[in-house]
Amino acid sequence: MSIIPAPKEFAFKKTLVDVIPPINFLTHNLYSYPAKFIPHVPYYTISKYLKQDNSLVLDPFSGSSSTAIEALRLGHNCICIDINPLTNFLTEVKTQRINFELQQNSTGDSKSFISINKDRKKCGTNNIYLDSFMEKMKDYSAEFFYPNWNNIDHWYPEEFKQLLARIWGFIYSIEANMPADFMNLTKLCTLYLSRYLSYGARDVPKLFKSKRRIQQLETLREKVSKNPEIPYKVFKNKMISYYTQMKSLSSILFEKNIFPEYEFTLNKSLLKSVDGDKRKIICLGETDVLSYDFPIENEFIDLIVTSPPYIYAQEYMRSTKLDLYWLDLVNDSRVRELTKKELGNKKTTDISIIMNKLRNIKTFISISQILEKTERKKYGKNGKYVPLVYNYFYDMYLIIEKLHTTLRKKGEFGFFVGNPTVLGHLIPCHKIFCEIFQDVGFKIIEIGFDQIISPRLLKGRKNESPQGMDAEWLIISRKTNL
Ligand SMILES: C[S@@+](CC[C@H](N)C(=O)[O-])C[C@H]1O[C@@H](n2cnc3c(N)ncnc32)[C@H](O)[C@@H]1O
Repeated sequence: MSIIPAPKEFAFKKTLVDVIPPINFLTHNLYSYPAKFIPHVPYYTISKYLKQDNSLVLDPFSGSSSTAIEALRLGHNCICIDINPLTNFLTEVKTQRINFELQQNSTGDSKSFISINKDRKKCGTNNIYLDSFMEKMKDYSAEFFYPNWNNIDHWYPEEFKQLLARIWGFIYSIEANMPADFMNLTKLCTLYLSRYLSYGARDVPKLFKSKRRIQQLETLREKVSKNPEIPYKVFKNKMISYYTQMKSLSSILFEKNIFPEYEFTLNKSLLKSVDGDKRKIICLGETDVLSYDFPIENEFIDLIVTSPPYIYAQEYMRSTKLDLYWLDLVNDSRVRELTKKELGNKKTTDISIIMNKLRNIKTFISISQILEKTERKKYGKNGKYVPLVYNYFYDMYLIIEKLHTTLRKKGEFGFFVGNPTVLGHLIPCHKIFCEIFQDVGFKIIEIGFDQIISPRLLKGRKNESPQGMDAEWLIISRKTNL
């Protein structure tokens, strides 16, 4: 195995402060996705290693698509793969080039809240009058939308459920005749409101109904009963602030003359057709990267950048459940099916097969012996953690192997990972992954750490499962010819 360079401290928030301001940068903060990237990681990797405009970036665990935002604004195309069906919506919302002005007043015309610029329909600017839009929303009384979820009553008091069912009903009733960029903004704000009015705790991404939260919601119910305008005010404020963030990305895309185009399947001819100002954003949500068969020839991708799921973290689908149901993207059986495919949540592969595949990964072998011993002591033969950890590294090995074939020769792979604690032992993921990358046929060209300021995914977890991380590691490797 080749030599690994000495680790450096990236301190991204300091070193990149001139290019990435600390608050609400572009559209990165539009949605609080669990274990979201800091934008610095995709920015750093893409801008340092992709020298040719209009290249192709892949994020195989794209989550809320931080990578796509950075790839697009730097002039590249991006493939976003994730098992979570929410990914397609978030990718589009966060990368869209908006074509409307949000006017905060009303039209004065009770019939309409939108004026479409007919002369310049293709690239002209529509006007949306927020107050008029909200009047329509408040007056709506036709078909309500109730999520197809048995458990919905567990998460809402009746009056809030009815209010949301009315707002979502209104959104779905106008959607077909409205510009998609405006509807995306509206849905995103309604998702925010749907969490705001729910029993789901707001300081942890996981869906969790705490006593404290129940009390908070009781107070809110009382306030809303006296002042029914409160939810609408929350919605309106979000519309304005999210619009401003969307506008900041759109201005960059406008200046650079970049037009994103969205595709929901991947094929080679699609990518060939990318020309001039267009950039393809390929949204492959609801896709298990482990079983996905890339329908493109090998050595096609120019750069990969990603942050993988944590070991034993089934949080992503669960955290986003309210949103998935309000957006009508899933039903109960689909959620169960997809959750089973979430990495870090499986224990199906035979341990001897795993050990054979990972036989050269020395750090894994030594930590696995320690974990097994601890688990046996604590739980006898019935421990559940060790099989999850084994399966996790095995699956990740297979994925990295597959991604190696899709990457062009000498292409780079940026991998951002933390070191969790399992059964009281720190798992040196950065070392294990360095060895996996090398075993698969990569050369490590850069490695370093960055302090975690707010590890949101990890809040509220029990001792046994991954926690205690205070730094994450960026490993950049290059495909070599084995
Ligand atoms: C650490 S998060 C990525 C967050 C992302 N970098 C962002 O900025 O939002 C890891 C992602 O891996 C996804 N994931 C888990 N298992 C997967 C699988 N089998 N195939 C594809 N994606 C998977 C999760 O849904 C989650 O979105």
